Amino acid sequence: MIILAIETSCDDTSVSVVKVTGQKNPKFQILSNEISSQIKTHSPFGGVVPSLASREHLKNLPLVFKKAIKKAKIELKDIDYITTATGPGLIIALLIGVNFAKALSYTLGKKIMPVQHISGHIYSNWLSNKKIEFPVLNLVVSGGHTELILMDGHAKYKKLGSTRDDAAGEAFDKVAKLLGLGYPGGPVISKLAEGGDNNAFELPRPMINSGDFDFSFSGLKTSVFYLSKKHKEILKPGQAQNDFCASFQQAAIDVLIAKTIKAARRYKVKYILLAGGVSANNELRKQLKQAAKKEKIEFLVPEKIFCTDNAAMIAAAAYFNQKKAKGWKNIEANANLKLI
Ligand code: KG4
Ligand code: ZN
Repeated sequence: MIILAIETSCDDTSVSVVKVTGQKNPKFQILSNEISSQIKTHSPFGGVVPSLASREHLKNLPLVFKKAIKKAKIELKDIDYITTATGPGLIIALLIGVNFAKALSYTLGKKIMPVQHISGHIYSNWLSNKKIEFPVLNLVVSGGHTELILMDGHAKYKKLGSTRDDAAGEAFDKVAKLLGLGYPGGPVISKLAEGGDNNAFELPRPMINSGDFDFSFSGLKTSVFYLSKKHKEILKPGQAQNDFCASFQQAAIDVLIAKTIKAARRYKVKYILLAGGVSANNELRKQLKQAAKKEKIEFLVPEKIFCTDNAAMIAAAAYFNQKKAKGWKNIEANANLKLI
């Protein structure tokens, strides 16, 4: 089966062609996964500007689509299904991908499988073609989401907890903005943290002992704000800034790991799967892997290219969602689309 996938939820325009073979234990072969990032467009604003994102998708999607088809060496008639992320996300960004998918579906006479964006991140771990046994605990950490989701089977989700305010990636982005480090914050903070001491600055671990599986990152961001007034040296490049980045990163990681391990124990899961843009963070990948190993629980995290938004992950989720395939007239975008 050949799936053509589209992703335009936020600031990445992506098209992927994925070949799936085998029914019971499907194997994913990524024939192409083209991504056009808009970082340069949004960086001067310290965050994503929705109207600019929409315009960039409109301009780039046809080019990215053409490249993805060429790289995959397929013809349009080879496509069995079309899939697109239909939400959550920025509505004027989502609409570009959804409308493109509808036009293709009409022209090719193929159905569309609508995919919820978070389920896409979750299924990015299936692209590794490793055997994954249920129950599975997913820690999805991105710019818009921080969620712990239990799965008892394919597409059977139970939300255990989520952030009550900012998402983990949002906290990285806001702290980077405070320090004048640009957008997106995660990659630059993690790079600077490599040369820093994670015990140098004392930062809170919000809700670490709250007894539930929810998170809160807005307090951490506020502490950073006050610390930046007291320690002006962290606002310029140098050892203090590196130490500060390492301390902030560790505070966020400690909370994420503590809650994940607690949930994994409670629900006796076989696998912990890390996903979403923040899962590209080396320290989080390393430390959660170690924590899972200590618990004798298997751990998986996608290759970095599949951590941030991409269309290949949408194809994987679509494969396990085939029953949802619809004709082009019945596909809608929904900025607040829920996983469950
Ligand atoms: O999944 P994604 O591409 O888009 C959303 O669905 O939100 O995630 C983007 C987020 C941004 O907040 C970015 O700062 C964060 O992922 N991120 C990271 C790293 N790379 C990207 N956060 C921490 N460390 C990283 N290395
Ligand atoms: Zn995402």
